[in-house]
Amino acid sequence: MSGFFTEFKKDREKMNNQHIVIKYYDKFSRVYDWVSPKRYYHKPREFAITEMNLNKGQTILNIPCGTGQNFEYFQKYMANTGRIVGIDLSEGMLLQATEKVKKNLWDNIELFKGDATQINSEWIDKEIERELKFDSILCDLGLSGFPKWEMIIDNLLSLLRPNGKLVIMDWFIEKRSIRGEFIKWIGKGEVNRPLWQYMENKVAHFTLDNSFKGGDMFVASGNKKPF
Ligand SMILES: C[S@@+](CC[C@H](N)C(=O)[O-])C[C@H]1O[C@@H](n2cnc3c(N)ncnc32)[C@H](O)[C@@H]1O
Repeated sequence: MSGFFTEFKKDREKMNNQHIVIKYYDKFSRVYDWVSPKRYYHKPREFAITEMNLNKGQTILNIPCGTGQNFEYFQKYMANTGRIVGIDLSEGMLLQATEKVKKNLWDNIELFKGDATQINSEWIDKEIERELKFDSILCDLGLSGFPKWEMIIDNLLSLLRPNGKLVIMDWFIEKRSIRGEFIKWIGKGEVNRPLWQYMENKVAHFTLDNSFKGGDMFVASGNKKPF
């Protein structure tokens, strides 16, 4: 019984923490694109999106989509065709993303408010479309902050079509450093989670490039296993 209460308390603490993080992103959204300009993540983003093997007419998911910094990269390949689904939990971040969509007259982008810890087939069936599966999924700068990140990786893989591609772009800084502490402070996440190591065992054709930002940032990708 005491185990149950300890788990319950831990879950409550995580929920409270998520609530605070989302409130923070709601405020941060107003200056996010200015504080974190395109050029800062250009190289890893460009590479991550190349790894998605995008083509016209595909259906893809970006979680967390934030202010929509990836959209212009997606459109280079998708040219306003197919379906781009963006999910984020912060209304502020989604508002900025919506502005970008409107300004650019992109009509293949759909945005949804959703908690990454809840996104699974049932959620997609209910909130978007029954049986919807994705050709590829990009999870960028999200898993380092999300609770239950292992479960989220498993759930994202379950949302792919057979042989679909999962791409993760995130930080991995093992030793304490000024950059690591700054990223933790500004992003409200961690920087040393073994994200790609977990993913490596779950996918086929795993690839890793951890040369970004002086070796502090990686892009990992892999295909959904056939069974
Ligand atoms: C560092 S930003 C990254 C946004 C975008 N991927 C980018 O690269 O610009 C982290 C994002 O995660 C979102 N977020 C945090 N917790 C979340 C959760 N549980 N579910 C969905 N989104 C979440 C925040 O609202 C924020 O937009």
